[in-house]
Amino acid sequence: MVTRPRRTRDVAAPVGTKVSILIVDDDPTKRFALRSILEPVGENVVEATSGADALRQLLRGDFAVILLDVRMPVMDGFETAQLVRQRPRSELTPIIFVTALDQAETDMERGYDLGAVDFVFAPVVPAILRAKVSVFVELYRAQQELRRYRLQLEELVQERTTALTAINRELEAFSYSVSHDLRAPLVAFDGLSKTLLEDYGGQLDKRAKEYIERMRLASQRMTSVFDGLQTLFRLTGGEIRREQLDISSIAGQIVDEIRSENPERHVEVDIASGMTAVGDQRLVRILLANLISNAWKFTGESSAPKVWVGQEMVEGARRIFVRDNGVGFDMISAHRLFGAFQRLHSQSEFPGAGIGLATARRIVNRHGGRIWAEGAVSDGATFYFVL
Ligand SMILES: Nc1ncnc2c1ncn2[C@@H]1O[C@H](COP(=O)(O)OP(=O)(O)O)[C@@H](O)[C@H]1O
Ligand SMILES: [Mg+2]
Repeated sequence: MVTRPRRTRDVAAPVGTKVSILIVDDDPTKRFALRSILEPVGENVVEATSGADALRQLLRGDFAVILLDVRMPVMDGFETAQLVRQRPRSELTPIIFVTALDQAETDMERGYDLGAVDFVFAPVVPAILRAKVSVFVELYRAQQELRRYRLQLEELVQERTTALTAINRELEAFSYSVSHDLRAPLVAFDGLSKTLLEDYGGQLDKRAKEYIERMRLASQRMTSVFDGLQTLFRLTGGEIRREQLDISSIAGQIVDEIRSENPERHVEVDIASGMTAVGDQRLVRILLANLISNAWKFTGESSAPKVWVGQEMVEGARRIFVRDNGVGFDMISAHRLFGAFQRLHSQSEFPGAGIGLATARRIVNRHGGRIWAEGAVSDGATFYFVL
């Protein structure tokens, strides 16, 4: 488990410590009276002799509640309250105004406007003041507790994420080196089978030669699985560099490449013009190549194969899609499509390693986007993505 040093600045005071109450009054007798009334509450009472002094105290520490005298020379209670509210540290600290009963009506209106949460009237009734202050002290404690839980949770999530990321990295590095190391003997195996056929083919009968051919095909298939895995782990591991991409032109280049590799196939391709997206050039190219080559492959049995690359606006969000009129798939299995090695079609009908869509999903995830598919058996498929 990876542990980080605890953040000290943000951590709330531990349970059981006293909370502070600020009394602001220019009159020492009244301050003394308030302090005596609050003594039984059992918390830490701090005195400020003026508005300016109160602001100084608020810079030094957090208070559960402020008892603020309305009538003070230089800076009165209202002005003080306004400044208290302007400071981030005390913008939410409850303020109880202390005012004379005969001023109550006018003071209350202004006081509430300035962010007072309560009033007590002089002469102060001790039981009422204690009850009011206790409510805010309890509230403050509850908030502190919540904050402590939140910080603990955040730390826990952070620790778990770091640990998981490390495990993930290790697993990926492991899979990468396994697929890398196993690839070499496979290539040797294929090469030797080829030599065997070329040099000793004359001494073998038809059946033996067929067996060797099948061994070669199997080893080639496995090599392509390893290649796919390496693409999955290597190409999608590094940093992503976002830039404005011309999706229409990238799609066009991919189709040209596929077409030149498969001159025997006649597939009609319709690419919408002017499609753009912001993403990592290299990764988005791999994403599109996987989707388009699938569309190309899975239309292999269609009488008039057609592939569309286009975009749609749905509820203000733009999605790009690759659609084909090929064999399609059963929507019941749609959730499996994007898993590594998951294939819904047989190897004999449509060969493949089953890594293309897993790679596609990883690329989209790395961009913080979404990819999904719609299709029906014998009725084509559409793959949508948003980057
Ligand atoms: N355009 C498509 N039409 C129908 N099925 C598709 C299409 N694209 C992907 N699939 C299904 O998803 C599976 C996984 O695709 P992918 O990961 O690219 O692997 P592969 O192409 O090697 O089969 C495919 O084997 C196929 O069953
Ligand atoms: Mg594929």
